[in-house]
Amino acid sequence: MSEEKNTLTNAAGVPIPSNEVSRSAGKYGPLLLEDYTLLEKMAHFNRERIPERVVHAVGSGAYGTFTVTDDITHLTKAKLFSEVGKETEMFVRFSTVAKSKGGSDIYRDIRGFAMKFYTEDGNWDLVGNNTPIFFVRDPMKFMDFIRSQKENPQQNWRQDEMWWDFWSLVPESIHQVLWLMGDRGAPMGWRHMNGYGSHTFSFIDADNQRTWVKFHFKTDQGNKFFTEEQWMHLQGLEPRWATKDLYQAIDEGNYPSWTLHIQTMTEEQAKSFPWNPFDLTKVWPHADYPLQRVGRFELNCNPENFFAEVEQAAFSPGNIVPGISWSPDRMLQARIMSYADTHRHRLGVNYDTIPVNTAHAAKVNAPYRDGLMRVDGNNGSRTNYHPTHHDYPKADESIIPPPSPLEGMADRVELDENDHADQARLFYKMLDEDEKKRLVKNIAGSLGKCMDIIQKHQIALFREVDEDLANRVSTAMGSVQKPKIDPKPGTV
Ligand code: NDP
Ligand code: HEM
Repeated sequence: MSEEKNTLTNAAGVPIPSNEVSRSAGKYGPLLLEDYTLLEKMAHFNRERIPERVVHAVGSGAYGTFTVTDDITHLTKAKLFSEVGKETEMFVRFSTVAKSKGGSDIYRDIRGFAMKFYTEDGNWDLVGNNTPIFFVRDPMKFMDFIRSQKENPQQNWRQDEMWWDFWSLVPESIHQVLWLMGDRGAPMGWRHMNGYGSHTFSFIDADNQRTWVKFHFKTDQGNKFFTEEQWMHLQGLEPRWATKDLYQAIDEGNYPSWTLHIQTMTEEQAKSFPWNPFDLTKVWPHADYPLQRVGRFELNCNPENFFAEVEQAAFSPGNIVPGISWSPDRMLQARIMSYADTHRHRLGVNYDTIPVNTAHAAKVNAPYRDGLMRVDGNNGSRTNYHPTHHDYPKADESIIPPPSPLEGMADRVELDENDHADQARLFYKMLDEDEKKRLVKNIAGSLGKCMDIIQKHQIALFREVDEDLANRVSTAMGSVQKPKIDPKPGTV
């Protein structure tokens, strides 16, 4: 009856007598403790916020469909790639990295590109970025890197000096720093940027043979970017420019799409690759490892409720499906643990039963039970231990990946190949003159605000990459003003 009349109820489904006026002792007297309607309303509101993501707190997402366009069944037995034309439902969340919730989504930063494929074999999460590389290659440095990008612990605003302080002392960051400070560091919203799995992953075929693989999602809208002046202006007018752009495009039926390409490398080729093929600060050159088209996804459905579906979305590099696996990339190895761990903190131990996170095309038959907010059937009366003479689901040994050869002593061995400038140089040389000019201007505008010692260290790193780059940045920094608040309060 409540439903038919659209009556407002409390959380127990009981109609509420008023949504506007509290129960009081007469017109001017105090409120009554028995006003459960008011108490429940306030109590629920007080608990509306959950912890924000420790990184990538600002973002938006949408549902879509992935379609296979080219056969790769010789490389992987993953069911989502099993035939040309096959469609798999997806959820994708785009994000910025450093700003806290409430921040703008069109400033200069790396963009997150997190994809959840609801496959018949369970969910595959490819939690990538809009760059094929990263700032560090050992997870021990991740927390420090992120802190250098977020607010100063005393003053509570982000400071260019903290970024360059860290980067100038971590040479492996130089390739990604050039990316970030170049055109692709300020993409024109989520629709006009590529996505990358970034790490090396592995494909496992039907004969249990392994091939190393990298994933590239090229935007079908074309890569577009904002100049420094444009994003600074626009984020004042509409701090959620990217969120709005994506939502409106989908709402108008102008569905954005990306084409999936892969690069593959045999285990034999990996041995002679000039760099460590599992080093996240390196790409595999296209000329040697050409892109092969595999499929395309389009985003065609906006979420009905942002909190339920986007804020509560939980992606994990730990979620792989038979036919797809990890590599020894140290960063990836750490991420296998980190995401599910943070989800248990952010969303609770049963985060994977939230509708956006649960498997849509496979039956979940996990051994887990109980815990806070267990709202499904909790495996009913099924025996809750194993082994048992009663019915109990069986593990599937056919999905055990091929064994990996290992060598070396267990130790803290640094990846100290001293090759940080190699690919940064390839990157700089690839840019045309206008791109170089914008890159130098962006770097100088930011590095120019920093202490001399930081500038000196960073210029030395640029010099290892390219003499011309170092000289141009040094010259351009000459005209940069140190930070000040402008306009000063009281002057306008
Ligand atoms: P190629 O010259 O074969 O290809 C260059 C790639 O760089 C293209 O994918 C292009 O993307 C992309 N690109 C073009 N302009 C920019 C820019 N301003 N910022 C970032 N990327 C850009 O490259 P190689 O494979 O020989 O590698 C050379 C350098 O290119 C690397 O150091 C790397 O930084 C960069 N790169 C390499 C990629 C790889 O996986 N090999 C991927 C992306 C960049 P698009 O075609 O989408 O326009
Ligand atoms: C989010 C950890 C490197 C892409 C996160 C979150 C954590 C985290 C804790 C918050 C997750 C949440 O609350 O939902 C780490 C660690 C890393 C690492 C420990 C390295 C050791 C990377 C790399 C990439 C990446 C290399 C991309 C290639 C993302 C994305 C998100 C994210 C896209 C947002 C996911 C979403 O939209 O919900 N990361 N990260 N991270 N990370 Fe990482």
